[in-house]
Amino acid sequence: MTRAREDSHLVFDRVAEAYDAARPEYPEGLYVALEELSGRGLEGARVLDVGAGTGISTRGLLDRGARPVAVDRGGRMLSRLRARTACEALLADGNALPFRDGVADLVTYAQAWHWLDPVLSIAEAVRVLTPEGAVAGWWNSVDAGKADWLAACQVRLADSCEGYTGPALPGWSMPPIADAMGEAGLQVGETWVHWTRGVLLDDFLTDLRSHSYVATLAPEAADEVMSREGAELGKVFPDGRMTVPMRVYLAVGRKVPGGGG
Ligand SMILES: C[S@@+](CC[C@H](N)C(=O)[O-])C[C@H]1O[C@@H](n2cnc3c(N)ncnc32)[C@H](O)[C@@H]1O
Repeated sequence: MTRAREDSHLVFDRVAEAYDAARPEYPEGLYVALEELSGRGLEGARVLDVGAGTGISTRGLLDRGARPVAVDRGGRMLSRLRARTACEALLADGNALPFRDGVADLVTYAQAWHWLDPVLSIAEAVRVLTPEGAVAGWWNSVDAGKADWLAACQVRLADSCEGYTGPALPGWSMPPIADAMGEAGLQVGETWVHWTRGVLLDDFLTDLRSHSYVATLAPEAADEVMSREGAELGKVFPDGRMTVPMRVYLAVGRKVPGGGG
């Protein structure tokens, strides 16, 4: 992960089309939990969506009345976002945000914080937030403990993808954003939102192709993983319609009134 952090935007730029076409949106419950833990509604909120990628999180925020600005280091990811998202989008580094102090109600990292510097990123977020502002990070992932076929799929991916990070690894856990927020003096809240994804097998495979651990394989090796998974998952879902247990981990760090964070 340390090496990948340097150039993850290049990895995602290689698979921007697949990402845009097949990654899932976030469930309604995530946005409800975000409002609860941040202590403010999204309507009218000035949000800096850092690591916005193709705009899945940005559009989710826009649809709920927020006023996001998208920030990403990946030019191809951002051009996908710009094609269908009605907001400002900046090619910039989340570790050095090109904004003045105190301009944002929320800084969000959807599926993105683990690619940034854990200390610099949060310090920058704290700097650009209003005194009542909050930082939020969340990750959508398969809930492999809920289905044997999904756990088996993760084990196969772990075996064939050197850069795999996920539930098949012993001791695997969500990125330590809550710790980073706490160390920055923020008041932290965490929750999990469970949901079920209905998805066509072909789209599930396209989604898989957009994950960094597949995107960093040689093209032939990635094709091999895709055709193997197509065959294996096709045995479980012969009509090509999948039901995938999912969960989103959300951590929110609020500035403490009068505090240092
Ligand atoms: C997994 S994608 C998440 C995209 C989107 N937020 C979503 O919910 O689908 C991670 C994104 O973080 C971006 N990224 C990585 N390092 C970054 C950095 N230092 N500053 C800004 N964006 C960065 C990558 O280019 C990529 O688009």
